[in-house]
Amino acid sequence: MIDPTGEAHYFSSNADFDSIYPERIQRLSKRHWTPLGVAKKAAQFLAANPGDKILDIGSGVGKFCLVGGFFCPQQHFYGIEQRQELVEHATTAQLLTGVTNVTFMHGDFTRLDVTPYNHFYFYNSFYEHLVESDDRIDDEVDYSEGMYNYNAHALYQALHSKPPGTRVVTFHSLLDEMPPGYQLAYSSLGMLLKGWIKV
Ligand SMILES: C[S@@+](CC[C@H](N)C(=O)[O-])C[C@H]1O[C@@H](n2cnc3c(N)ncnc32)[C@H](O)[C@@H]1O
Repeated sequence: MIDPTGEAHYFSSNADFDSIYPERIQRLSKRHWTPLGVAKKAAQFLAANPGDKILDIGSGVGKFCLVGGFFCPQQHFYGIEQRQELVEHATTAQLLTGVTNVTFMHGDFTRLDVTPYNHFYFYNSFYEHLVESDDRIDDEVDYSEGMYNYNAHALYQALHSKPPGTRVVTFHSLLDEMPPGYQLAYSSLGMLLKGWIKV
């Protein structure tokens, strides 16, 4: 593979990639950030056509987007993340890795207009509303089952609004119910990773 950045070593293993981040962020990796191999597979499924725009819904410290951007240079990866601190870690990681086809945004996904984006990645981002406090990233968010339902409904509506050809990858997702038209086209890791295409 051509390495336009000279920083390919970060993408040779999960541990190499995680070494970019401070220790506290590395400790959260196993539970909260997509493993490098999974991110690569997911991105390659989503990267259907040159120029496609791929959105990570709840992009955390940017791992999926940066791995996707590195292995799929003909697409652009966008991440939206509600926690400012995590966006800052993502931006620093982008500078270190030199991946240019990635844009990080700070904000709430439920307020985002998804019209510009072709395909979507979703690592069970709203699940933190349903788990015990030990399993959360921090205490910065108002957690409740109501917020889980609110976020899940917004995602359903967003995916429902997209045209045929839209691809979605879910990882560890509870979203058994995709909007009408989405067909399972790919699965891996005992169905933990699923790729959907709207027909
Ligand atoms: C499981 S982590 C996944 C991070 C990243 N996608 C990855 O795979 O490495 C989910 C992230 O979604 C974020 N999140 C949850 N609800 C959100 C919302 N409504 N808008 C934006 N970000 C959200 C959380 O703050 C958390 O960082």
